Amino acid sequence: MKFFVDTADVAAIKELHELGMVDGVTTNPSLIKKSGRNILEVTKEICDLVDGPVSAEVVALDADAMIAEGRKLAEIAENIVVKVPLTWDGLKACKTLSDEGRMVNVTLCFGASQALLAAKAGATFISPFIGRLDDMNIDGLDLIQDIREIYDNYGFETQILAASIRSVNHMSDCAKIGADVATAPPNVIQAMVKHPLTDKGLDTFVADAKAAGIKIV
Ligand code: E4P
Repeated sequence: MKFFVDTADVAAIKELHELGMVDGVTTNPSLIKKSGRNILEVTKEICDLVDGPVSAEVVALDADAMIAEGRKLAEIAENIVVKVPLTWDGLKACKTLSDEGRMVNVTLCFGASQALLAAKAGATFISPFIGRLDDMNIDGLDLIQDIREIYDNYGFETQILAASIRSVNHMSDCAKIGADVATAPPNVIQAMVKHPLTDKGLDTFVADAKAAGIKIV
């Protein structure tokens, strides 16, 4: 499973990128707002840093305006993925932009039928939001499972990009189900390393190494 980092914080992306943890980046208007940066400038900086797909989201609501914004965003770099919402206009924009050879991420997906439409419209990525479903007591992972089954049934090449990830368990569960990509905030990716038994075991090894006077270099 590929890891995308869900942030417009360039320093955080850089830190994870140095460890080889960043296969791509996703942003949205809320994350751009949080960064306090100009969308075109910060997205360019991210694309200069990361070779993989970088999603930048349109803000228009009608198809023609989304297409114009998508073309402008795509000029930033070759690895830009134009992110459009899962509306009828978003699907029209997806079809046009993907026919032009651009990568498109269809976002705000909350249903398997929506994901089916996005694949038909030529989406490169579909972004089901699992955390926001969990918030409503609907199991977001069931949606990932359903989309996996549907796409596999018909050989759709649209990649499942599990989004709105809130926990380390979301990451491992998405990997078990077979999501192609999971996009998570930096703190979730960093939390994946933590286990109390690792810390406990290390404390013992450190104490024993000290007691035995073990030195390697
Ligand atoms: C994905 O592309 C979105 O940017 C993101 O995962 C949304 O997550 P949230 O529900 O935590 O805002």
